[in-house]
Amino acid sequence: MISSKDTDVQSARAYEPRRVLSYEAYLDRERQALEACRVEIDEAALRYAEAAKAYQASLRSLPPMQREHYESDLVAGAAHAASHAMLAPEPEVKDELTGHNYDGIQEYDNPAPGWWHMLFIGTAVWAVFYLAIYHFSPYVGSLPDRHASAVAQAEQAQFAELATLPLGEEKILKIMGSETWLASGRGVYEATCVQCHGENGGGLNGLGQNLTDESFKYITDLTSIATIVHDGLPPLMPPKAGRPDMSENEIALVAAYVASLRGTFVDGGREPEGVEIAPWPEPPAEDGA
Ligand code: HEC
Repeated sequence: MISSKDTDVQSARAYEPRRVLSYEAYLDRERQALEACRVEIDEAALRYAEAAKAYQASLRSLPPMQREHYESDLVAGAAHAASHAMLAPEPEVKDELTGHNYDGIQEYDNPAPGWWHMLFIGTAVWAVFYLAIYHFSPYVGSLPDRHASAVAQAEQAQFAELATLPLGEEKILKIMGSETWLASGRGVYEATCVQCHGENGGGLNGLGQNLTDESFKYITDLTSIATIVHDGLPPLMPPKAGRPDMSENEIALVAAYVASLRGTFVDGGREPEGVEIAPWPEPPAEDGA
C-alpha cells in the first residue's frame, strides 16, 4: 500500500523544475523547421517544373488539336506550380521553344554561338577588302596579269642562261645537250604540236609529217626548224603552231626537241618525205645545264 507520504514525494518530483526553452531558442527552432519546409517545397516545385517540361515535350508528337486540349491542363498546373516556384531559385533554362510553327515543325531558341557570328561577320568584312583590293585596286594586278608575270619570272629563272643567246644553231645545240631543257622542249611539243605530228613525232596522215626519220621536206639545218615553227607552213601549219604568245625560248626548246627526234624512226610513222640532209653539227663539249 502506498502511503500518502510516498505520493507526496512522487508528485513533488513531477513538479521538479524542468529545463525551459528560452524564447529565442524557441524562435530559432521554429525558423529552422520553416526553412526545412521551404527547401522541401522548392525541391518539389523544381521536380514539378521538370516533369511538366518533359510532359510538354512529349505533347509535341500529338496532332495540334489534341495538343491544345492537353496544354490547357498544363497551363493550369503550371500556374499552380509557379506560385510555389516563386520560392524556388530560377531554374536554368535550356532549349526553349520559340513560338514559330511551320506545318508542325517547331523551333528551339538556340542562337548560334558568338564566335560563329564573329566568323560570319569577319568573312563579310574580308570580302569587302578583298573585292576592293584584288578586283579594283590599281596596285594589285588582275589574276591573269599576276599569272603571266609569275610565268615570266619562272621562265626567266629557268632559262636566263638561254635568254642571252640569239635564236639560232648555237642556242639549239646548247639545249640539245641538256636533258632538262630537252624535257621542257618535249613539254612545248606535247602542248602545241602533237595534234598534227603525233605523240612521238611519227606524223599523222593528212596532217604533219614524220619528224623521226632522216628525210625532210623543209628542214635544212637546225635554224630552219626554228624558222618553220616561227613562220609556220601556210596554209597547213599556222605560225607558232597557232599560239601567238609562244616565246623565243619556247621556239628554241621545241626546235631542239624536234631535232632530237631525228633518226628515232618511231613505229607507225608516216612514210619519209623530202630529202636526206646532213647530220646535225656536234654539240659543244662544255655543258653547264
Ligand atoms: C595544225 C597542224 C600542225 C601543227 C599544230 C604543227 N604542225 Fe608542223 N606541220 C604541219 C603540216 C601540215 C606540215 C607539212 C606542211 C607541208 O608539207 O606543206 C608541217 C611541217 C612541219 C615541219 C617540217 C617537216 C619537214 O619535213 O621539213 C616541222 C619541222 C614542223 N612541222 C614542226 C612543228 C612543230 C615543232 C610544231 C609545234 C610547235 C608543229 N609543227 C605544229 C602541221 C602542223
